[in-house]
Amino acid sequence: MTDVSLIGLGPMGLALARALQSKFTLTVWNRTAERAEPLLNPGTVLAPTALAAVQASPVVLVCVADYTASRAILAAPGVMDALRGKVLVQLSTGTPQDARDDWAALSGVAYLDGALLATPGQIGRPDTPLFISGEARALAACRPLLDAIAGNIQHMGEPIGNAAAWDLATLSCMFGAMSGFFHGVRICEAEGLPVDGFSQMIGAISPVLGEMLQDEGEAIHAGRYGEPESSMATCAGSGRLFVKQAREAQLDASFPDFLMGQFERALRAGLGNERLAAMVKVLRQPA
Ligand SMILES: NC(=O)c1ccc[n+]([C@@H]2O[C@H](COP(=O)([O-])OP(=O)(O)OC[C@H]3O[C@@H](n4cnc5c(N)ncnc54)[C@H](OP(=O)(O)O)[C@@H]3O)[C@@H](O)[C@H]2O)c1
Repeated sequence: MTDVSLIGLGPMGLALARALQSKFTLTVWNRTAERAEPLLNPGTVLAPTALAAVQASPVVLVCVADYTASRAILAAPGVMDALRGKVLVQLSTGTPQDARDDWAALSGVAYLDGALLATPGQIGRPDTPLFISGEARALAACRPLLDAIAGNIQHMGEPIGNAAAWDLATLSCMFGAMSGFFHGVRICEAEGLPVDGFSQMIGAISPVLGEMLQDEGEAIHAGRYGEPESSMATCAGSGRLFVKQAREAQLDASFPDFLMGQFERALRAGLGNERLAAMVKVLRQPA
């Protein structure tokens, strides 16, 4: 027996394995067994099958490409039975419904659904965030193991879909900002400005940008859309400038067109004199 088993040795799984093996005995299994070779030592063993990996430890972590891959692994003969009485921590990225479906299918298994908000290189640090949902008792049982991979554990409550929901909401914010950032890069390139200077400046002002997002979120929570410091109509003016500049500099206009499309919907809905937070009213319309 080992302290913990880990299924999945992609870039993230390998980082998890390295963080775990410095403190615990570890069993690993991966569809492509060769990926385990750099990890093997007297405290880390390679299981010949997923079933053997599950049987080897009281806590099993799964970190594979998606829930489809995870379900195929857990559906192998004997695996479900072997999981009963153990803690399964799902660290593959999925939707809240994926987590609910797995939780329903895994009766008799203490199931935690987790989301790592980190790259493999950030695993094992005291500030590495891990959102987790599921029973507090199951979390307590494997807390020292999870602390070794991510020191900043946020328990998002017992409803099993919560961690995936927080994860996707956060990723939406990140990738949304990234789309705007990449368009900003093209504006800099078109004007011969240094891209590293631009990214450093964004890093430096990111607390102010974070404050703006927080303020919009509080306004939505309170239903407070009036008395804007910067109205929807004013912000839409910036949107028009993105479109104009993209045309002038012959840039790909996919981001400006998307953004202007959102503003036009808000203006058509009569939200021009409301604050930017009112955009959520547009998005609440049935698709
Ligand atoms: N990398 C990141 O920055 C990051 C950050 C946060 C969360 N995550 C999440 O962590 C999970 C793993 O990501 P990753 O970066 O390690 O790389 P990945 O390419 O998403 O996943 C690779 C792993 O999935 C396995 N796999 C894929 N399809 C499979 C199947 N049908 N049956 C069995 N195993 C299968 C691979 O096995 P083989 O080696 O045999 O191909 C490998 O172990 C993903 O859900 C990802 O979203 C990743």
